Amino acid sequence: MSVESTETNPLRALSPQDLRAHAAEALTRARERSDALTAVDDEELVRQHSKLMSPLVWDLAHIGSQEELWLVRDVGGREALRPDIDDIYDAFQHARADRPELPLLGPEEARKYVREVREKSFDILEKVPLQGRRLTEDAFAFGMITQHEQQHDETMLATHQLRKGDPVLHAPAPPPSRSGRLPAEVFVPGGAFTMGTSAEPWALDNERPAHEVVVEAFFIDTTPVTCGAYSEFLDSGGYEDPKWWSERGWAYRSEHGIHAPRFWNREQDGWWRTRFGVHEKVPSAEPVVHVSFHEAEAYAAWAGRRLPTEAEWEKAARFDPATGRSRRFPWGDEEPAPEHANLGQRHLRPAEVGAYPAGVSPLGVHQLIGDVWEWTSSGFEAYPGFAAFPYKEYSEVFFGGDYRILRGGSFGTDAAAIRGTFRNWDHPIRRQIFSGFRCARDARPSEVA
Ligand code: AVJ
Ligand code: FE
Repeated sequence: MSVESTETNPLRALSPQDLRAHAAEALTRARERSDALTAVDDEELVRQHSKLMSPLVWDLAHIGSQEELWLVRDVGGREALRPDIDDIYDAFQHARADRPELPLLGPEEARKYVREVREKSFDILEKVPLQGRRLTEDAFAFGMITQHEQQHDETMLATHQLRKGDPVLHAPAPPPSRSGRLPAEVFVPGGAFTMGTSAEPWALDNERPAHEVVVEAFFIDTTPVTCGAYSEFLDSGGYEDPKWWSERGWAYRSEHGIHAPRFWNREQDGWWRTRFGVHEKVPSAEPVVHVSFHEAEAYAAWAGRRLPTEAEWEKAARFDPATGRSRRFPWGDEEPAPEHANLGQRHLRPAEVGAYPAGVSPLGVHQLIGDVWEWTSSGFEAYPGFAAFPYKEYSEVFFGGDYRILRGGSFGTDAAAIRGTFRNWDHPIRRQIFSGFRCARDARPSEVA
């Protein structure tokens, strides 16, 4: 059996007209988000809120610059609008910490630039043939640029979380838990499954190709680890005992004075946190967020468990034992809808565990998509048969580096930028991202049917 044979490409069913409309809609939704995240005073836009992040005005013009490079110049074959600023907005030329010193476009100029680029992109989307060239097949380049903008929208959301002062972003609360009492863990049978994809139209190069992977039987947590469970680790002295930490993790914790998840502080009546400028009690039923890989690994050791590998996570999320095939999403092949998962910055926080019964995987695992990115124990490596496309700097240059894979997306991730195969990666010390985790364990021989 060829592993591709069971995959569906949902865009192949669309007429060229509908495909163009679909791409235009995705680009427009990304721009609405970028506009909302940059609707702040000019002073706030140009300021560096944290050494870890770029000024918001850099992200904005970088979004335009990537779009100009790929859609206007490459796909459209049009003349460059601003060849003079290519270097400033090349993420490989300047570290985030140095970006405020660059001769950046000012707020008005940056807004005008991204508007002008977008007008050209829409004109190109109307006219360019969507066949005959790999870059435009299934409108891939438009999907890639949509995802790029949405990824920077999540990065800008993380910048907002780091900024000081009164809240500027507002959103309704996510739905409460509505699943009743869930089992702590779910059994995932051993054996082969299809990992990655060859058919997903807007999948990025590192998700390709589809290939068979064998995993041993294991158990995985039904939900991400909650703040309540995590605070038990804290309150039992977990951050003071090297026995739960890797050598590197302990050194990192000691050197940086890390004593709780980022943005948490202890008050008389327990743990509090600051979330987008709001000071509030840590909600015990929500997945913990803003922990590094090292903290996730230490918690897992304390709990007598471990982090899942990337392949285990994907099998738990996509494998359907009834058909033997891998789904696009835990709930099936349909695009994410609001009842499936907490995505798209609709809510500015993770939802309580059990809040998304409609998003459950065939094996019974909840909230794999949305809420919090989930650390896995795996590094970032190429799948067998990988080919860089369309540029090496998206994925290939990061393979084998000091990264861990994160899966599933967060409340800050747009539906266009997440799927069962999507791979994110970051340094194991990072925690300004919307990162949480769930635990796993090996199945004992007596537990394997
Ligand atoms: C895939 C999230 C690691 O933000 O660094 C944005 C995505 N690549 N611009 C990042 C990305 C180029 C990337 N991550
Ligand atoms: Fe980028």
